[in-house]
Amino acid sequence: MQKIQQNFYSKDIISVNQFTKADIDILFAQADLWREKVQSGAPITVLSGKIMANLFYEPSTRTSSSFIAAMQRLGGGFIPINDVHYSSVSKGENLADTIRTLEQYSDVIVLRHPEQGQALLATKASGKPIINAGDGIGEHPTQALLDLYTIQNSFGSLEGLTVTMVGDLKNGRTVHSLAQLLALYDVKLNYVAPRVLQMPITLCNQLKNSGIQQDEHETLDAVIADSNVIYVTRIQKERFDSLSDYEAVKDAFVITPEIMQSAPKDSILMHPLPRLAEIHPSVDRDPRAIYFKQVQNGMYVRMALLSLLLREELS
Ligand code: NCD
Repeated sequence: MQKIQQNFYSKDIISVNQFTKADIDILFAQADLWREKVQSGAPITVLSGKIMANLFYEPSTRTSSSFIAAMQRLGGGFIPINDVHYSSVSKGENLADTIRTLEQYSDVIVLRHPEQGQALLATKASGKPIINAGDGIGEHPTQALLDLYTIQNSFGSLEGLTVTMVGDLKNGRTVHSLAQLLALYDVKLNYVAPRVLQMPITLCNQLKNSGIQQDEHETLDAVIADSNVIYVTRIQKERFDSLSDYEAVKDAFVITPEIMQSAPKDSILMHPLPRLAEIHPSVDRDPRAIYFKQVQNGMYVRMALLSLLLREELS
């Protein structure tokens, strides 16, 4: 996987491991510019003549429409292929052929796939950049980048924060990517999950090497009052082997207004969405609940990424 090295042009975006702080600064500065431009109402044509193929083998509302909105706001076009039914026979081969076909039409391919590692595999079949929009329980780099952008915009800096991740940390690809990005900064990570859904040990060991503090907890009470960011995730039903295993943990953590009373006044409550029962809708009125702000930021961060990947003069 190619490192970004402050030049996004034509690169695949598969993992957050490709990014340094300097790369993130470039991306976020570009996202700020696009936000100003969109809010000013000025037309943007920087990607006019470019086409993005959106190839989604798993359901998606936000990620696919966010990429489409980003591409259209930059003046580009798109081919939407949603919720493709995936043949389990000769998996790699089918994906490679589909990718080879789509690259004939398009300049960039956004891929969501149920199996970890398939986004990386797709890069081998494609001469056009591939953006990983979620590969099974692996990574979801663009979600993590928009989450990081949201945290930075809320606190002005990413240094010195305590981030508490709650829910399905085993199967949640958004937290796998976000934890790695946060480890570039001086942060403390708390993991609050049922014992069977804790952060994968291999990832914890990898993050340990970066020198950040990580603590596991089975309840939120112990850490909520010291958290700057509370990042809640959905229990990933589709990743469980049996329904009864899912039922046993599905309501392990539910954020209510009462629970939010223990959170600091200047903390933020985040969620990549979709939300099931893990945040009660009455919490939405709390100004600390910023999950719909995340959605908005996602479009600006994806605009930044698409423009930097497809326009050499911006990179
Ligand atoms: C997440 C995903 O697909 O991993 N959703 C998203 O992209 N916003 C989180 C989830 O599905 O729980």
